[in-house]
Amino acid sequence: MSNFYFGECDTVELAKKYGTPLYVISEDYIKERCDEIKHDFLLKYKKTMAVYASKAFLTKEMARIIAREGLGLDVVSGGELYTAVKVNFPMDKIIFHGNNKTEEELELAIKNNVGRIVIDNLREIDLIEKTAEKYDKRVNILFRISPGVNSHTHKYISTGQVDSKFGIPLDDNIIHRGIKKVINYKHIKLLGFHFHIGSQLFENDTYIRAVRVIAGLMKEVKDELGFITKELNTGGGYGIHYAGKGERKPLKYFTDAIMGELEKCCTEYNLERPLLMIEPGRWIIGEGGITLYTIGTIKNIPGVRTYVAVDGGMPDNPRPSLYSAKYEAVVANKILDERNEIVTIAGKCCETGDILIWDLKVPKIESGDILAIISTGAYNYSMASNYNRIPKPAVVMVSQGKDKLIVKRESYDDMLKNEI
Ligand code: LLP
Repeated sequence: MSNFYFGECDTVELAKKYGTPLYVISEDYIKERCDEIKHDFLLKYKKTMAVYASKAFLTKEMARIIAREGLGLDVVSGGELYTAVKVNFPMDKIIFHGNNKTEEELELAIKNNVGRIVIDNLREIDLIEKTAEKYDKRVNILFRISPGVNSHTHKYISTGQVDSKFGIPLDDNIIHRGIKKVINYKHIKLLGFHFHIGSQLFENDTYIRAVRVIAGLMKEVKDELGFITKELNTGGGYGIHYAGKGERKPLKYFTDAIMGELEKCCTEYNLERPLLMIEPGRWIIGEGGITLYTIGTIKNIPGVRTYVAVDGGMPDNPRPSLYSAKYEAVVANKILDERNEIVTIAGKCCETGDILIWDLKVPKIESGDILAIISTGAYNYSMASNYNRIPKPAVVMVSQGKDKLIVKRESYDDMLKNEI
């Protein structure tokens, strides 16, 4: 077994069978993470719910797996919602997010009876009331609050601070106005609050601070408006392992801390503990995916560096160029060879910044070798583009030595199909 195996499948064989670049997703990994959520959160605590943040990776097959595992789905656009509708995902377990939902998206959500809509700004309230009235429905909502805490992550994926496009700020009485307004609306039922403080987080202190802030709000709205908070959704954001330091922490590291603080605050403020909901994305899928590439041109600049170019790059993985994200990789057909060269893995785009990995330790590398970049399950396929008119790779699902195609490779004609 000198090749690299993933999901008990030989990745070199997968590359031969399906071509490269290729996203490979392990169904077993997803199930393990869902099991961890069940054992360490859903079964451990009463009044809990977990939804998968589908923005991390969504296809019809992924939605089917999440439905089978019994988790709900966080969707953030009409497109994500439509995917869920197409596989008959249980609509009561859908949470619809977004900081600028369109009327059409709200209509799609309400018509399909989504379980909850998370209100990001008060403008949405009237739109929802109007649409819900039209369809004669009552819509459950949560207010997304910006708790005003700073998280330790890249500024593009930090969301809980005061200066953010997301959520309703705490400080201008807006929540009181919002609550007073919805309490009188016939077609809206306010269940509680939501916050999401950022992504790829490793510390639980920010969650704890945010829980305390929101618990303060729960007390305030109970005392002043008589509103009882039934649900609190604390978002996702749990970090995973990419390269170097930063091992994925067990789920309970975060959820025990969140639950502990929530229970403490509720006792302190004499509140009934609301249902606690979490919505991780990356943590469920990130380490469950790899990307396979074929190595092409190798350019050695003596005394400077060696660029090893692969047949993909920023169109299938924009994270290194967007967030300076770091990845680990292996040469899949030389997994046992000693790694004694240092190279830079470049993409094939007409763009200097299209570098997937700087300074990767590899064995002696040649054109035709297969490179596997690790932990590409989250925010790769879902953020892929057609930059330079490069078709999107296929996606293969592996489980216990078996592989199946779940998304076909895009063709040139696929890219042209809407053009007139
Ligand atoms: N809930 C809400 C409201 C969110 O905005 C997000 C992520 C999540 C849950 C899931 O967060 P996760 O558990 O996956 O960290 N494209 C970036 C990540 C953007 C995350 C946006 N919101 C990246 O590639 O790192």
